[in-house]
Amino acid sequence: MKYMNYIAADSAPEVATSAIKLHGESGFQGMRAAGRLAAETLDFIAPHVVPGATTDEIDALCRDFVADRGALSAPFMYRGYPKSICTSVNHVVCHGIPGPRRLKEGDILNIDVTPILDGWHGDTSRMFLLGEVSVRARRLVDVTYEALLLGIAQVKPGNRLGDIGHAIQQYAEGQRCSVVTEFCGHGLGRVFHDAPNVMHFGRQGSGDELREGMIFTIEPMINLGRPDTKVLDNGWTAVTRDRTLSAQFEHSVGVTADGVEIFTLSPKGYTKPPYNE
Ligand code: MF3
Ligand code: CO
Ligand code: CO
Repeated sequence: MKYMNYIAADSAPEVATSAIKLHGESGFQGMRAAGRLAAETLDFIAPHVVPGATTDEIDALCRDFVADRGALSAPFMYRGYPKSICTSVNHVVCHGIPGPRRLKEGDILNIDVTPILDGWHGDTSRMFLLGEVSVRARRLVDVTYEALLLGIAQVKPGNRLGDIGHAIQQYAEGQRCSVVTEFCGHGLGRVFHDAPNVMHFGRQGSGDELREGMIFTIEPMINLGRPDTKVLDNGWTAVTRDRTLSAQFEHSVGVTADGVEIFTLSPKGYTKPPYNE
């Protein structure tokens, strides 16, 4: 039996497929607008991420920001997820659910937003620091951001998915951090989570070839301690088993004729904290 590994997005159904969708100019245009709105949402929320704020308040602000711009928040009711964004504090690896807990000085927080604009998903996350954080927390955040950039630098036609994972793992482990293996980046577009899975570890030259028109996220989760995670009883919140700090950054990217286009760059030029104008 012969299986297709890639399919022109325009001839694919608007559901997750095992084949990797190759998008044309209309897909890139849709992702530019959705990605910009996602990045604008994180730009907008930055001044609200202060000690004493609750993650519920941050969720409501992001929810309304996105809704006011005619977009949906993809996480809301996605497989039963109860909120509009994910807020992952300290040892929470990903999929932290906003709640009444107040942020406090020294916390580190990932905010992950995914607005759907005109049917296209813009998926991005950044780390935020609450006041003065420990030196090792700061270092973890810096290492994680650099790991994302090194992964993105591997994106060009002819390279393979394993080149992305390898670059991330090689760097993070060289910095005496560990890479979470239970969660990965993903294809996206008019579908939230689509093929391919984008691992944040791997072997150079392994995995599917990157082709022009592919659109996916890279979203490494890096831990200060062991890589092992577990999901809490709410069915969503992933934490480090050893309760050491975890950090994550995420961009949505597209493979161009000669490299990469990042759809979720900050219009304010925000990259990693601190976020000052
Ligand atoms: N935005 C997350 C990602 O990067 C997914 C969140 S799904 C949710 O893929 F249901 F947890 F919100
Ligand atoms: Co994602
Ligand atoms: Co995300």
